[in-house]
Amino acid sequence: RESPHPCSTLAFDRNLVEDMVMFKVSRVETKPYDGQKPGTSGLRKKVKVFLQPHYLQNFVQATFDALSSEKVRGMTLVVSGDGRYFSKDAIQIIIKMAAANGVRCVWVGQNGLLSTPAVSAVIRERVGSDGSKASGAFILTASHNPGGPNEDFGIKYNMENGGPAPEGVTNSIYVNTTTIKEYLIAEDLHDVDISTIGVTSFSGPDGHFDVEVFDSADTYVKLMKTIFDFQSIQKLLSRPKFTFCYDALHGVAGAYAKRIFVEELGADEKLLLNCVPKEDFGGGHPDPNLTYAKELVDRMGLGKSQSLVDVPEFGAAADGDADRNMILGKRFFVTPSDSVAIIAANAVEAIPYFSGGLKGVARSMPTSAALDVVAKHLNLKFFEVPTGWKFFGNLMDAGLCSVCGEESFGTGSDHIREKDGIWAVLAWLSILAHKNKDNLSGEKLVTVEEIVRQHWSTYGRHYYTRYDYENVDAGAAKELMAHLVNLQSSLSGVNKIVNEAGSDVSNVVHADEFEYRDPVDGSISKHQGIRYLFEDGSRLVFRLSGTGSEGATIRLYIEQYEKDPEKTGRDSQEALAPLVEVALKLSKMEEFTGRSSPTVIT
Ligand code: G6P
Ligand code: ZN
Repeated sequence: RESPHPCSTLAFDRNLVEDMVMFKVSRVETKPYDGQKPGTSGLRKKVKVFLQPHYLQNFVQATFDALSSEKVRGMTLVVSGDGRYFSKDAIQIIIKMAAANGVRCVWVGQNGLLSTPAVSAVIRERVGSDGSKASGAFILTASHNPGGPNEDFGIKYNMENGGPAPEGVTNSIYVNTTTIKEYLIAEDLHDVDISTIGVTSFSGPDGHFDVEVFDSADTYVKLMKTIFDFQSIQKLLSRPKFTFCYDALHGVAGAYAKRIFVEELGADEKLLLNCVPKEDFGGGHPDPNLTYAKELVDRMGLGKSQSLVDVPEFGAAADGDADRNMILGKRFFVTPSDSVAIIAANAVEAIPYFSGGLKGVARSMPTSAALDVVAKHLNLKFFEVPTGWKFFGNLMDAGLCSVCGEESFGTGSDHIREKDGIWAVLAWLSILAHKNKDNLSGEKLVTVEEIVRQHWSTYGRHYYTRYDYENVDAGAAKELMAHLVNLQSSLSGVNKIVNEAGSDVSNVVHADEFEYRDPVDGSISKHQGIRYLFEDGSRLVFRLSGTGSEGATIRLYIEQYEKDPEKTGRDSQEALAPLVEVALKLSKMEEFTGRSSPTVIT
C-alpha cells in the first residue's frame, strides 16, 4: 500500500501511519454568509454555493462553537456520508478543522461512505481501535436530492444519541454563522487516504490526533443481525418462488445491500439494481418513489409495460443516504403509511427485537391514520408528531416508542435515532418469512399484496395520496398557504366551497394549523401544516417542504378512511378524486401557482 506520507510510515498491523511533524493551528479570517440556517435535515445547498471560499468552513466552525469547546476538545467525531460530489473534499477540510479545534479522533467510513442510519449506529454502537466511542457526527448528504457539480450538497450534525441535532443546537449554529469572524484549521495536515482501512496518527499542540478509516458496513450489519432472524429470511430468499429486487438508485445503500442481501442472506447478486454508489447517482434523482425509482417500478410491473413476465415477488428501493425506503410487491405499491402500520401490527411475532412487545408507536402528522387503528387494536401508546425524524428521537430516548414512520418513505425503530431504509426492507422480509413459515416447501407463497389486503380487511383502509408541486415560486407558495389559513376562520365558508366542488365529500368539522407539544421536553412546535378534518375522518393537509434547496415545494396530502372490507379494494386515485378536487378548489392551487398538475404523485 502506498502511504499518504511515505517518509513517516510505521507498518503496524492496523495500518498505522504516523506523521511525526507537529501540525500548526491557523486562524483564518472569514465573513458571515447569509442563509446558513439548517433546515429539517441540515444545511442543503447547490454544490456551487458550498464551493464559495470558506462557506463550508464557516458552517463547520459555527457547529463546533455551538457544541462548546469542552465538548469538542478530546471528542471522537464521525465524518462521512452518501458519497455525493464534493464529499471527499469536504471530509479533508473537516478533518483539518477537527484537528485544529482539539478533536481527538475522526472516524471516517471507507471512501467516506456511511449511510445516515449507519452513522447513527456507529455513534451508538461502535468502539474504536483505541477503545473510544464517538459522541457526534457530521453527515455529508442532501438525502434524496440529486448530486453532481450542478446539484446539491448537504451537511448535518448528529448528537451523542445518534440523532439529528435538536433545534436548540441548530439555532445556535445558525446564530454563530451570522457573526463568525474566523475559523481554526490545521492547514499543513496532509490529506488522509480515506480509501484504505487503518489509523493515521498526527501530533498537534494538544497531543495525538488520529483519523481512523473503518469498514462502512461492519457495525451496521452486526446491529441488524441482533434485530432480525437472518436464518428465517435466508430460508425465504432461497425459495425458488420468492424473487426479489433491490434498487439503491446509485446511493450509499448499495454498499450495505451487497453485504446484507448477497453476502449474509445468500441472495443472487443479480437482484441488485444500481447498487454501485456514484457521486452523481448516475444522473438520477435518488428518491425512492413511483416517479424517480423508474427502473424498479418497471421491473415490478408497475410501469407502462404491464405485461412483463418474471416480475419479482418483492421489490424495494432506498434514497441517496439510505434512510428512506419504498416497498413494492408484484405489481403492487405499499404506501409508506400502510407500511409502518403493517410492520407495527406484525413486529412482535415476526421480528425478534420486538418479541417483548412494543413500547409505543408514532407517526408524523401528514402520515395516514393507518397506524392509529393498529395502536388502538393492540392497545399501544400512540403519538402524532410534526414532520421530521428528530421528534421521534425524543420519544425513543424516553422509552415511549418502538416503531415509527412517515408518509415521506421513512420507517424505523428505536434501534437507532434515524429512519432506516435497509431496516424497513429486513422488516418486510421478516414479515414475509413469518407469514410463509408453515408452507416453506409449498408452492403457494403469501405475497406482499395479500398481506396488505389482509391488513385492510382487518383494520380498514386509509386511501392515501400525496401531490407535490415542486419548485414553485416561493412567494406564490407563501400566499397560497396564507390563503388556506385565512379560510379556516369560517367553516361555513369552507363547507360552501366543499359542497360546490365534490358531491361525495362530507363536511369539514375542524380546521387548524398543527401544533405539537413534545411530551418529553415540553417544547412547542407551531405552524406544522394546515389541516382540514372532515366528518367521515377524511383529511386534507397542506405543507411547505423543508428539504428543498431552490424555490418552494407545496405538498398536499389526501386521505380517506374506508372501514367496510367490501370497499377496500378500489384504485386509490379513483377513490380520492372527489377529495382532490375539493383540495384544489380550496387552495386555488392553479390560480396561485400556475400549475394545472403536480410534479410528483405518490
Ligand atoms: C427529511 C426528514 C424526514 C421528513 C422529510 C420531510 O427526510 O428526515 O423526517 O419527513 O424530510 O421532507 P419535506 O420535504 O416534506 O419537508
Ligand atoms: Zn435520506
